[in-house]
Amino acid sequence: MLSRYFKPSILKKIAESAGTPVYVYSASAFLRQIASYKKAFRALDPLFCYAMKANSSGGLCSLAAGEGWGADVVSGGELYRALKAGFKPGKIIFSGVGKTPAELEYALRTGVLFVNAESFEEVIELERAAARLNLRAPLSLRINPDVDPHTHKYITTGRLGSKFGVSFKEARKIYLYAAGSKRLQPVGAQFHIGSQVHSPRPYAMAAGRLAAFILKLASRGINLGYADIGGGWGVKEGAEMADPAPLAAAAAGVFSGTGIKLVVEPGRSVAAPSGLLLTRTIYRKRGGHKNFIIVDAAMNDFIRPALYGASHPVSLIGPGRGPQKLYDIVGPVCESGDFLAEGALLREPASGQLLAVYSAGAYGFSMSSQYNSRPRAAEALITGASSWRLIRRRETYKDLTANEL
Ligand SMILES: Cc1ncc(COP(=O)(O)O)c(C=O)c1O
Repeated sequence: MLSRYFKPSILKKIAESAGTPVYVYSASAFLRQIASYKKAFRALDPLFCYAMKANSSGGLCSLAAGEGWGADVVSGGELYRALKAGFKPGKIIFSGVGKTPAELEYALRTGVLFVNAESFEEVIELERAAARLNLRAPLSLRINPDVDPHTHKYITTGRLGSKFGVSFKEARKIYLYAAGSKRLQPVGAQFHIGSQVHSPRPYAMAAGRLAAFILKLASRGINLGYADIGGGWGVKEGAEMADPAPLAAAAAGVFSGTGIKLVVEPGRSVAAPSGLLLTRTIYRKRGGHKNFIIVDAAMNDFIRPALYGASHPVSLIGPGRGPQKLYDIVGPVCESGDFLAEGALLREPASGQLLAVYSAGAYGFSMSSQYNSRPRAAEALITGASSWRLIRRRETYKDLTANEL
């Protein structure tokens, strides 16, 4: 149970001191997931690149950097944050379907391990950036292996017809071009099939296709040193991460003994179970046949239920009143889609009582916004049995207009 990382006594202290809504992360939970990955993959000795999009908070990222992990970044902003958090440039990879020339140049100046390019046009831009800087750009291609990961359509990325990556046919053309360029150094190939993938099978299928392709390239004299299998390992809401050993076994089955360095880009599975969203009850009311709990967190803070229909377990901090009932837990935003949970079975909370939304450590704060002119939440990190620190202050009303001219 995730609640063991988040004792009510410490949550109450955080809420009193930092206010609500507040994201609360557990350093020990975060480090536990990292240790599970290291253990599962130890025979392969891969480079782990934490996918910062899941949660780019410096307080958490620096923990991953301290464990020797690298970072997978998808924007100049994430690259900036990665460097600030202490990730070594040589362990950072730059992914994303629409990197601008300025972002490519920033990555090359930084000395990232490689750029995962996603189109021929991007590769030409990368070549130009390398020429401007008078260096050779380390190139990897994101290849679309056309594998169905059986997940939500918004987070399915490895099927033909998706905007991501290039086909094997296109990749072959690009690598042949790159091999002939004095500004490009083909070093790797990558896929990322999607997120919330709970079976190793689609990984095994995609990895097999990638390995066969890498072998064919080698016969043309193009030797890639890195095979990057992306992230996406699933984690059930409310649960610890499932052991990634089956994923490691799928990768080992294909890449063991090939001399190719494996790269893995986990995001959600590390961050999601390591955080919760702590919110306070404002009002209770009935609407038709429904019971509502209106809280001070909303879809601008945590959009996963509204965007993906994600169902996150919610619990009261402290006892509630009366028998358990079904409640919709909703926020103050003016949208019917603004809910954190639907049909949660709870006792009635008192006005002002705290509620915790579990498994909110990934794609929670990083997807938050100021919609309805709501200042973004604070973030706190539990560092020991009774110790914690604020890792991001709550935004103020002044922050809302700070950039307006
Ligand atoms: C290229 C790439 N790598 C890694 C990830 C991380 O996926 P997850 O958070 O599901 O592990 C993503 C997520 O979208 C991605 O696009």
